[in-house]
Amino acid sequence: MFPVLARLGAMSQQTPNAGSTSALPPVGLTPAKRVRVQHLLAAKEQGERLTMLTAYDAPTARIFDAAGIDMLLVGDSMGDNMLGHENTLPVTMDELIPAVRAVSRATKRAMVVADLPFGSYEASPQQALASAVRMLKEGGAQAVKFEGGVRVAEHVRLLSGAGIPVVGHLGFTPQSENILGGKRVQGRGDEAAERLCEDALALQDAGAIAVVLEMVPAPVAARASEILAIPTIGIGAGPSCDGQVLVWLDMAGMGGWSPRFAKQFAQIGAELERAASAYASEVRAGTFPSREHAYWD
Ligand code: KIV
Repeated sequence: MFPVLARLGAMSQQTPNAGSTSALPPVGLTPAKRVRVQHLLAAKEQGERLTMLTAYDAPTARIFDAAGIDMLLVGDSMGDNMLGHENTLPVTMDELIPAVRAVSRATKRAMVVADLPFGSYEASPQQALASAVRMLKEGGAQAVKFEGGVRVAEHVRLLSGAGIPVVGHLGFTPQSENILGGKRVQGRGDEAAERLCEDALALQDAGAIAVVLEMVPAPVAARASEILAIPTIGIGAGPSCDGQVLVWLDMAGMGGWSPRFAKQFAQIGAELERAASAYASEVRAGTFPSREHAYWD
């Protein structure tokens, strides 16, 4: 049996929510019950789809947690989405940790997953362990994620053995965009698809709790989801994954470029611009602050 499944064996046999049909903790319960590794595995077993969004600060994390998003990823996508970088490569541990801490503080139910940024884990399993420990100790995360398959399997094994849940990341891996030749679909063709499945199995065998599949043809993601006992979480990988993840700014229509696979469920950017210009108009006209927005004694 695969390590994470063996370790959780007895737990994953039980229904985590006695009396509930869901494998996952209820939304809105006070005090909230945290989504944990055994819930992810039970969700996969019961065919219940998992939800994940990125979050980089406390206010958005609080909203997504209240909305019942199961996992919040403090992604290195903070680089291009929040810090104004061209891509994820410049993001550092010291930039990500305060964001992880803010998201952890604001979250009661969702599992908080911290990305390990480029340069913080590739050199050795020991480097990965040191970075992951910081994410849990200083950031308060419950799991970490990093990119790669067979080449990082030993890293995953060491962290899992040390009690740190690891989410893998295969397909288009943004930290390798220079060697992949840009943002391109990965796993096309029989050989590449086979390699991706081997990478996924190597991560599972090393103890990963889930695998993100990014920009992978839907049939390849479906095959990987079928052969794995741990959940796959897709982003541009079609409908057959066990869960889905999106960068929240793409999902909420915050403006700027967003990939074809990212559906916009709202137009928050346009609404925010409307609010800011209404505020500016009222300040200029002298109608804000009005009587009720001031202290008179
Ligand atoms: O950093 C990130 O947001 C990610 C997602 C795209 C999965 O890795």
